[in-house]
Amino acid sequence: MLIKTAEFVISNSDVDKCPKDMLPEYAFIGRSNVGKSSLINMLTNHKNLAKTSGRPGKTQLINHFLINKNWFLVDLPGYGYAKVSKTAKRKFQKFITNYFEKRKQLVSAFVLVDIRHEPQKIDLEFMEYLGISEIPFSIIFTKADKLKPKAIERNVEYYCQELLKTWEELPPHFVSSSSKAIGRDEVLQFIGNTNLQ
Ligand code: GTP
Ligand code: MG
Repeated sequence: MLIKTAEFVISNSDVDKCPKDMLPEYAFIGRSNVGKSSLINMLTNHKNLAKTSGRPGKTQLINHFLINKNWFLVDLPGYGYAKVSKTAKRKFQKFITNYFEKRKQLVSAFVLVDIRHEPQKIDLEFMEYLGISEIPFSIIFTKADKLKPKAIERNVEYYCQELLKTWEELPPHFVSSSSKAIGRDEVLQFIGNTNLQ
């Protein structure tokens, strides 16, 4: 999959105001600061298409980016940001679940997890939610530049073993680094293979 054009289209908190055309889309979700926005920039080869920050909680809205004029990458806010109030968390959960429940155009979600960390309850629960909702998803292990190859292998293996305690089958999974462009070809190839347009 070659990316020729990538353009920001719209940001909003209301799923009903997301683009109405039925173009296929792929959404990036995961804990705050895991690297969702950076990954979108890496995949599209743009430095600042999606806004990134060292401080968690940067992306607050649903952001649609039109790729090659015929499909979307969607940047979502992160979950698990400790500093937000309970009310803000509930509001957030509602608009994210609304997004996943209403967007019939969603071909697949990517759940991003930091490759350095042990499986976190919040991520496993989110994957379970996607499973129950019959939303296809893949896992992307981010920030691989922070570990040596052996540690990457060990952590991915450990994560997969943990998943197999509750899942019959492993979802597709990728290792990425946005700073080193690791995983770009694999993720784009996966999108190309699942995007029937
Ligand atoms: P929210 O929008 O707050 O949910 O965060 P996000 O998941 O979009 O993370 P973002 O892309 O803004 O990146 C968070 C921080 O991690 C930034 O300081 C990035 O530079 C850094 N980062 C993201 N990806 C990588 C990576 O692959 N390697 C390294 N070393 N740092 C990364
Ligand atoms: Mg972000």
